[in-house]
Amino acid sequence: MKHAYIIDNITEGKNVNTVVFSTDDEIKPGQFIMAWAPGINEIPLSFSYINKIKKITVKIYGEASEYIAHLKRGDYLYYSGPYGKPFTIVPGKKLLIGAGTGIAPLIPLIDDNTYGIISGKTADDIIFERYFNNRLKVVTDDGSYGMNGYVTTALKTLDLNEFDMLYVCGPEIMLKTVYDYIKNMDINAQFSLERSMKCGIGLCDSCSINGYQVCTDGPVFSIEQLKNMDEFGRTRLQYSGKRIYF
Ligand SMILES: Cc1cc2nc3c(=O)[nH]c(=O)nc-3n(C[C@H](O)[C@H](O)[C@H](O)COP(=O)(O)OP(=O)(O)OC[C@H]3O[C@@H](n4cnc5c(N)ncnc54)[C@H](O)[C@@H]3O)c2cc1C
Ligand code: FES
Repeated sequence: MKHAYIIDNITEGKNVNTVVFSTDDEIKPGQFIMAWAPGINEIPLSFSYINKIKKITVKIYGEASEYIAHLKRGDYLYYSGPYGKPFTIVPGKKLLIGAGTGIAPLIPLIDDNTYGIISGKTADDIIFERYFNNRLKVVTDDGSYGMNGYVTTALKTLDLNEFDMLYVCGPEIMLKTVYDYIKNMDINAQFSLERSMKCGIGLCDSCSINGYQVCTDGPVFSIEQLKNMDEFGRTRLQYSGKRIYF
């Protein structure tokens, strides 16, 4: 297990913190670590910044994310990785589509030819607008910030043929919504999937989807790969191993 000295902890929004640390690890956009909360669990977390300084942005759901999100300057982050297949970067115009903290792993993809959509249930879920220099649409379910509606409300206002690649990250229901909207268009897209993960290295099967392991075969999958995965957006394994339907 590796360890890194924490340099800073930034509050991004309600129950969302960015933990800043330094490592020599070479990270590619979309890769993740298994971060250790001692005595609690190890959880997968993606990078929101990947230069010499690294950042992970953590939304607090349970005990492990709460522990990691509250690491402060002087503490150590214990982790293994980096793991997973990264996003494939293509030249041209990119559209980044993130729901809530799902926008975090997309931030390292930003260049001067990038446009964004950030969606959330409410204004409290919207983070990282600052990286987009107004080249951005924000949409909230309750209309408390930006457009009122769902991610498709924002998608419908754009000509998607203008983009060379769509990069999408968020809860699987949101990924499926975007997938269904574009699946019959001639659009290139990559999706980062979230599944329960225990090992991160392809051993435990907890993250499986149609025979793929999201931790090693993903988390990034192309739209063409998803077209052959009938479990996508329909069913997944809970942490206990029980299969549930979305
Ligand atoms: C490849 C990958 C990368 C990820 N990157 C990030 C990241 O960069 N930042 C980040 O904040 N999270 C990320 N996650 C999700 C993160 O791993 C989980 O939120 C975390 O494991 C929760 O652990 P916990 O012990 O705190 O909560 P748990 O005790 O596991 O869960 C507490 C409650 O919250 C619910 N819950 C847990 N996680 C989520 C979730 N993601 N969405 C909705 N409900 C949830 C559970 O169902 C449960 O009801 C990533 C997941 C994967 C698979
Ligand atoms: S997390 Fe164990 S196989 Fe993917």
